[in-house]
Amino acid sequence: MIQSMPLSRLLLALIMSVFLFGLTPASLTLADTEQPDFSNQNCLSCHAEVRQFITTSVHSDFSCLACHPNIGSEHLQDYRPNYEDPAETLISPQRVPETCGACHAEELDSYMESVHGRGLLLGSIETANCIDCHGSHNVLARSDPQATYSATRLPETCAKCHEEAQENFIRGTEHKSLAAGTGIAEHNTLKFFVWLTILTVVGLIVHMEVELFHLFKRSRRPKS
Ligand code: HEC
Ligand code: HEC
Ligand code: HEC
Ligand code: HEC
Ligand code: HEC
Repeated sequence: MIQSMPLSRLLLALIMSVFLFGLTPASLTLADTEQPDFSNQNCLSCHAEVRQFITTSVHSDFSCLACHPNIGSEHLQDYRPNYEDPAETLISPQRVPETCGACHAEELDSYMESVHGRGLLLGSIETANCIDCHGSHNVLARSDPQATYSATRLPETCAKCHEEAQENFIRGTEHKSLAAGTGIAEHNTLKFFVWLTILTVVGLIVHMEVELFHLFKRSRRPKS
């Protein structure tokens, strides 16, 4: 076939195919760049202040969207907060535990059991949430002495809210887990008082019933 084709035709076909081949992918990439760009690079083009933290953090390989999943394409064109109430953003004190807890379920559970987690449930935003102890963009490994929750820096971290947190104050385990053998004493104390309350109330009701029954029987007994 090709051999029987005149040279000019062959040349034309060649030029056409190069043109078509070249054009099609080009128009596709053109459409691609119109897609919203959620890359960290693009986020950092506007949020340069975050870069220095994120590069040394344990989460440095993560997409920004791992913790900011609510950032949508409208944000990239023209920043508009996609919430009316600040409590709706995933980085408000009320929402941070659930944002971090999406990946750290065990720590979320133990946090919600802790005095701070209960404080948060009762509506306190002065209480400590994950980022008060760990940081947000600058979370370091626990073994790093610079980590806010390392043994060296923990007193300073607690002292942000508790004046002069002493060595003994920080000695406890923050995230208690029965499986790991921590918090057993607290767990058993709670169980003890829950059962003590149940038994006392049941005992009280039985006692009253018996007394009422006794009074009732006495009132029906003919007077002698
Ligand atoms: C065109 C610039 C621009 C780009 C690109 C951009 N942002 Fe923003 N962003 C802003 C502005 C402006 C604000 C509001 C001012 C502020 O808090 O710094 C903001 C606020 C935020 C906030 C805090 C408020 C909130 O809604 O929770 C977060 C988190 C955020 N951006 C994350 C991101 C992420 C993640 C990306 C990448 C997917 C991104 N931004 C890309 C401009 C941008
Ligand atoms: C490990 C979770 C996590 C990752 C990953 C993360 N952020 Fe954040 N980000 C947070 C938290 C938590 C806050 C709230 C900080 C606060 O209130 O002090 C926050 C706050 C912000 C804010 C609001 C302004 C500020 O600094 O308080 C911006 C903007 C932001 N992040 C952008 C980014 C960008 C851009 C990336 C990716 C390079 C990113 N974040 C990655 C957790 C994260
Ligand atoms: C951001 C502030 C903040 C930080 C940081 C903080 N706490 Fe607290 N903590 C509170 C508040 C507020 C309460 C009162 C109860 C509540 O609202 O949850 C409290 C209550 C407590 C209690 C119950 C007894 C008491 O004093 O009320 C203990 C124990 C405690 N915190 C230990 C710690 C330890 C240990 C650290 C450091 C690892 C720490 N806290 C860090 C704010 C904080
Ligand atoms: C009052 C301070 C405080 C708060 C609030 C807090 N943590 Fe921690 N976290 C610590 C300390 C201290 C450690 C070191 C181990 C321990 O004591 O349990 C730790 C350890 C961790 C670890 C590492 C576990 C390991 O074995 O190395 C992760 C992950 C973690 N916390 C996530 C979270 C998340 C997620 C939240 C919120 C839901 C949270 N933390 C709230 C203080 C805190
Ligand atoms: C998308 C999942 C994801 C989210 C969201 C996330 N983390 Fe992590 N986090 C990880 C992974 C994975 C590691 C690395 C675990 C490892 O190397 O042992 C890690 C490590 C950590 C460590 C260090 C544990 C250690 O052993 O040294 C802490 C502390 C921590 N994260 C706290 C947080 C806090 C606070 C937030 C919210 C601001 C958060 N994380 C949000 C996945 C996540």
